[in-house]
Amino acid sequence: MSNRTFTMIKPDAVKAGHIGNILAKIADAGFKIVAMKMTRLSADTAGAFYAVHSHRPFYQELVDFMSSGPIVAAILEKDNAVEDFRTLIGATNPAEAAPGTIRALYAANVGENAVHGSDSNENAAIESNFHFAGCDMFAY
Ligand code: CDP
Ligand code: MG
Repeated sequence: MSNRTFTMIKPDAVKAGHIGNILAKIADAGFKIVAMKMTRLSADTAGAFYAVHSHRPFYQELVDFMSSGPIVAAILEKDNAVEDFRTLIGATNPAEAAPGTIRALYAANVGENAVHGSDSNENAAIESNFHFAGCDMFAY
């Protein structure tokens, strides 16, 4: 899966009406959407997805936020997908995100930061399989 990454448009960006603009940025950057759905995470599901952060001080806030409303989950394909997508979204804290990045444009703060992007090929595969069955990932 080295040419794939996993993303979520988070509840803040969905509520603010940014789904279309964010998908346009993703398409313009050369990513192909190979799986996509709108869904809402339960607190348990959000907690499991972010289990790696369970000992961090922001974990409960993160779980509450990520289960607070609908998200859009997607798998994206492009050469060097993980790294290129992290560049496209910008730093975790939008105050530090480069101009023109998705977080600089659409994120409010370090917690409610508009989008998720996998941080490694291994986690891209784990996160994709967490949210999608193989039959809902498309080659076209
Ligand atoms: O999402 P990213 O990989 O850039 O950051 P992370 O360090 O893996 O943290 C995961 C998520 O936790 C962030 O995207 C934020 O939503 C949240 N977070 C937070 O609320 N407060 C922090 N100080 C750091 C992260
Ligand atoms: Mg991360």
